Amino acid sequence: MERILKGAWMLAAALALSASLGAQARGADAAGTEAPKFVGREACASCHAEVHETFDKTFHGRKAQSNPKLANMCESCHGPGSAHADGGGDITKILNPKKMSPQAVTDTCLSCHKDKNLMLWKTGSHANSDVSCTTCHSVHKGSGNKSLTAGATDTCLKCHKKQKADMRLASHHPVLEGKMTCASCHNPHGGIEGNLKADSLAETCAKCHTDKMGPFMHEHPPVADGCQNCHLPHGSTNERMLKMPIQFLCVSCHNKEHASFTTNTTTQATWVQRDRCTDCHREVHGSDRARRFRK
Ligand code: HEC
Ligand code: HEC
Ligand code: HEC
Ligand code: HEC
Ligand code: HEC
Ligand code: HEC
Ligand code: HEC
Ligand code: HEC
Ligand code: HEC
Ligand code: HEC
Repeated sequence: MERILKGAWMLAAALALSASLGAQARGADAAGTEAPKFVGREACASCHAEVHETFDKTFHGRKAQSNPKLANMCESCHGPGSAHADGGGDITKILNPKKMSPQAVTDTCLSCHKDKNLMLWKTGSHANSDVSCTTCHSVHKGSGNKSLTAGATDTCLKCHKKQKADMRLASHHPVLEGKMTCASCHNPHGGIEGNLKADSLAETCAKCHTDKMGPFMHEHPPVADGCQNCHLPHGSTNERMLKMPIQFLCVSCHNKEHASFTTNTTTQATWVQRDRCTDCHREVHGSDRARRFRK
């Protein structure tokens, strides 16, 4: 109950803040005479010397001097601190995001961060699973310019063990090798479909593999429909990150063509060992030359 009240109070404070941006807000008492006041960063520094010193190296600290949204410095996030300071550090009179509900923390951060990617926050799986902003961002100790709790990919791998394992399979996207990150394809903040960065799965892939998207004179319908018809996104035991070995993959849709091969289990087995469908039908993503995708 107390947490919820704290969260609600914080939200009210944050709203009041953004309503009266800048230095006017400092010391102003929007909520009535009983409410604590803003005392300014130097007051916090007298007791929290270490946090005060390291703050200038953090992203918010670096921007705080020039960005009016952060004019209240420490108190932009912790709320007005006069009661806490006057009480010699009474911890019941200051907001500590560590002790707040994920929702209350997120509301605090979103009071300033509403633009671009973060507009999608409520659509994402993380919002719906109580993963808060501070699960991935550590505003006081973060690494890199995005203040992440760990490296860009390590931050995700703490929870997503299955994807980590997939990235170790024989064929995989070079994420663990550091050539790309999870955020190359995902917007961790949200997204309409699977927290993806682009508007659709096909567009996500096309960003880097434009040559596979066409348009081609002779389209292969499952390609335009989506790469996931044949590929897995993270990794696979099959070559080229295919969902299944080529022979079975093609035959899962084409079970009539080359009927003598594909319906007779003996010849099929021979075929699998000898010729692959793509030995002859090479341009399987589409072709400008041959209707049967043969070179
Ligand atoms: C008079 C000294 C003093 C001043 C001034 C002061 N604090 Fe504190 N603060 C403390 C003490 C003591 C604690 C408890 C320390 C602990 O448990 O490690 C504390 C704890 C906190 C906590 C953690 C609360 C919790 O729930 O554990 C936060 C956040 C905090 N202070 C922020 C601030 C901010 C922001 C300011 C400036 C507005 C400030 N403090 C000013 C002494 C002070
Ligand atoms: C952008 C928001 C933000 C700003 C600005 C900010 N803090 Fe914090 N602070 C947090 C969050 C979030 C936590 C919870 C721990 C974490 O996620 O790193 C926290 C935790 C703390 C704690 C408690 C640490 C603990 O271990 O419980 C203290 C003390 C504190 N901050 C002091 C300050 C002081 C002093 C300043 C200004 C120099 C400041 N903060 C500025 C967001 C902020
Ligand atoms: C009082 C307003 C305010 C609050 C509250 C706030 N931020 Fe910020 N934050 C800013 C500003 C301003 C910047 C600098 C943005 C810029 O210059 O583009 C920033 C920058 C950042 C960045 C780095 C952006 C980049 O492009 O590298 C991250 C990450 C971030 N904030 C996370 C958080 C998190 C997490 C919280 C909640 C614990 C939070 N912020 C709360 C105002 C705020
Ligand atoms: C699941 C982990 C995760 C969560 C939860 C998360 N972020 Fe991020 N955030 C990231 C990563 C990773 C990046 C870097 C993205 C990139 O490089 O493309 C980032 C980037 C940012 C940036 C820089 C600008 C941008 O959009 O890329 C801001 C600001 C930010 N986050 C704020 C927030 C706020 C506010 C919340 C809570 C509403 C939040 N983040 C929740 C992982 C997360
Ligand atoms: C604290 C644990 C945690 C961290 C850290 C985390 N996630 Fe998640 N993520 C979850 C949970 C819980 C879900 C929802 C359940 C599920 O789908 O597994 C989820 C879902 C997802 C989904 C599925 C979207 C969907 O709708 O199918 C994607 C994509 C994702 N996370 C990407 C990331 C990325 C990228 C990062 C790092 C920037 C990250 N996650 C960090 C816990 C986490
Ligand atoms: C090459 C692009 C790409 C990269 C890189 C990538 N993903 Fe994905 N991810 C996808 C696609 C595409 C989906 C399927 C989305 C759908 O079907 O809606 C997906 C789905 C997911 C899901 C939902 C469950 C599942 O496995 O289908 C999670 C969780 C996830 N990714 C996490 C991660 C994490 C964590 C990383 C980094 C280690 C990562 N992804 C890197 C493209 C990518
Ligand atoms: C950010 C760029 C990027 C995005 C987005 C991307 N890829 Fe890739 N893809 C790569 C890189 C880099 C490689 C490795 C190339 C190499 O090793 O030569 C690769 C390799 C592949 C391979 C070949 C794997 C192998 O074993 O040779 C396939 C198949 C593939 N990607 C499919 C996809 C699909 C499907 C999507 C969308 C879900 C996608 N890619 C999104 C960069 C990307
Ligand atoms: C009908 C099934 C199918 C669909 C749909 C499909 N692929 Fe492929 N893809 C394959 C097969 C089969 C191979 C292996 C070809 C070979 O090794 O001869 C392959 C190979 C690849 C390769 C690695 C080889 C190379 O030429 O670079 C990439 C990258 C790739 N596909 C990307 C994509 C992307 C991006 C999409 C979606 C736009 C997509 N694929 C849709 C079947 C498909
Ligand atoms: C998800 C289903 C699906 C998969 C998997 C698939 N195809 Fe297709 N393919 C189609 C459809 C649908 C057509 C269009 C059929 C038509 O127009 O009669 C097509 C057309 C073709 C054609 C041209 C046929 C013609 O009449 O012009 C060839 C050749 C072909 N596919 C080869 C392959 C090969 C080789 C593979 C495996 C790498 C494969 N397909 C995987 C659905 C699939
Ligand atoms: C040795 C070369 C070769 C291999 C291997 C091969 N094909 Fe073909 N395929 C052909 C030729 C040649 C045609 C053209 C027949 C025609 O035009 O009448 C054809 C035609 C097709 C067609 C179009 C059929 C139609 O009725 O128009 C499809 C679909 C097809 N193959 C799928 C496959 C699949 C699936 C595999 C793997 C199981 C495969 N092919 C393996 C040579 C091959």
